[in-house]
Amino acid sequence: MKHLYLVANWKSNKSIKESIEWVRTFKSQTLNFKLKEHIHLILCVPFTVVSSLQEEIKLLDLPFCLGVQNISSFPTGAYTGEISASMIKEIAQWTIIGHSERRKYFYETDDILLKKVEQGKAEGLDIIYCIENSDVSVPFQIDAIAYEPVNAIGSGKAQPPQDAEVVCKQIKTLHPRVPVLYGGSVGPDNIAGFCGQPSIDGVLVGTASLDSDKFFHLIEAVSSL
Ligand code: PGA
Repeated sequence: MKHLYLVANWKSNKSIKESIEWVRTFKSQTLNFKLKEHIHLILCVPFTVVSSLQEEIKLLDLPFCLGVQNISSFPTGAYTGEISASMIKEIAQWTIIGHSERRKYFYETDDILLKKVEQGKAEGLDIIYCIENSDVSVPFQIDAIAYEPVNAIGSGKAQPPQDAEVVCKQIKTLHPRVPVLYGGSVGPDNIAGFCGQPSIDGVLVGTASLDSDKFFHLIEAVSSL
């Protein structure tokens, strides 16, 4: 059975209190639920909530890995306002790099993103690298690729799974050992369509991950695949 990755991207949402509520609600909903071994759950959350969530997840014994959504392209040092990979290593295992919102609003170029990947790998972080099509260059050392067609992000208009499969297959041909995820308006109603495709190893979920109920429904929907 192939490994499946369900990755939540909370973006710039949630206070510490709201984050704790999310995991507590998730726990209360899933008391009798046993996560299948091939399903991996990764929560990529704002820097400000990682530490509190780390404690709460441990306390509640929840099967989540924690990640962030960005790291500095610089090492630790005199870089005011930056959060370096080594600071993250203490509190989270994963980071997203190259999300289209970072490329668009923060002018992150392929060169900058490569430096971020190098910093992340030097600290042993696992990296989910986002691309909008199969032509975008992908650094070698990454651990997962998220294919996210820009028009599908946050629009409620997911790409048809068969179309996403075509692109993910191209990506997989170029990077055969790397899990390929689809992202863009994934919800409980369409997740199985994506995860059931041969070249899609999981999903990156924004909007639907903000609600712990919906996130649980996503897991349920792929548990019977
Ligand atoms: P969405 O976001 O699920 O809200 O479309 C996906 C993403 O941007 O990673």
